[in-house]
Amino acid sequence: MMFTVAIDGPAAAGKGTISRAVAARFGFAHLDTGALYRAVGVKGGDPVAAARSLSPEDLARDDLRTLEAGQAASKVAVIPEVRQALLEFQREFARREGGAVLDGRDIGTVICPAAEVKLFVTASPEVRAHRRWLEVGGDAAQVLAEVKERDERDMNRADAPLKPAADAVVIDTSTLSVEAAVAAACAEVAARLR
Ligand code: CDP
Ligand code: CDP
Repeated sequence: MMFTVAIDGPAAAGKGTISRAVAARFGFAHLDTGALYRAVGVKGGDPVAAARSLSPEDLARDDLRTLEAGQAASKVAVIPEVRQALLEFQREFARREGGAVLDGRDIGTVICPAAEVKLFVTASPEVRAHRRWLEVGGDAAQVLAEVKERDERDMNRADAPLKPAADAVVIDTSTLSVEAAVAAACAEVAARLR
């Protein structure tokens, strides 16, 4: 069976949490596409060359979840040749037998426009920055500023900007528990699997 769940949204909206839960619940494979851009961002050197030669070791680095890696990722993510170099790997992952969940910024709009389920997971910038601050600590005002800066860059780039696909279901997690957000996402998937 081929079945793709596309989950997009801004930083720290809860995409990864929902994706992992949906994958576990339905037995689908999960790809965090943000990790690809983070790995390119932290690798240094020519980003296009880095994207073309990304290895499993690059994706296993333990510094991918830092704020710096997030900023570096959103800077290399504006380069069309970088996005192009990562595209086929993502599409192939989505086509795998047994179902796949991909989360990122452009899954429902560019990578998998024919996905069976498209979710746009969002929350207010303040709520998202607070969640990220709980994970990484540091200066809360700086975390908020960086979240907003990254949102701006992701929404305003020319190639594959962050936006909901026309047929995406929007889940605003601002006032939802993790359990409630996961339940809402699983209900959308279950409805399409019937
Ligand atoms: O993948 P993305 O950056 O969109 O977010 P995440 O890493 O899945 O979630 C960021 C944090 O928000 C995690 O620590 C979650 O536990 C928390 N959270 C959530 O994901 N959903 C809620 N409804 C409430 C909190
Ligand atoms: O977890 P969080 O939402 O903070 O970020 P992420 O999903 O790891 O993505 C890091 C950065 O990579 C984003 O801010 C985007 O600039 C870029 N990205 C992208 O352009 N397209 C994707 N499909 C996934 C990530």
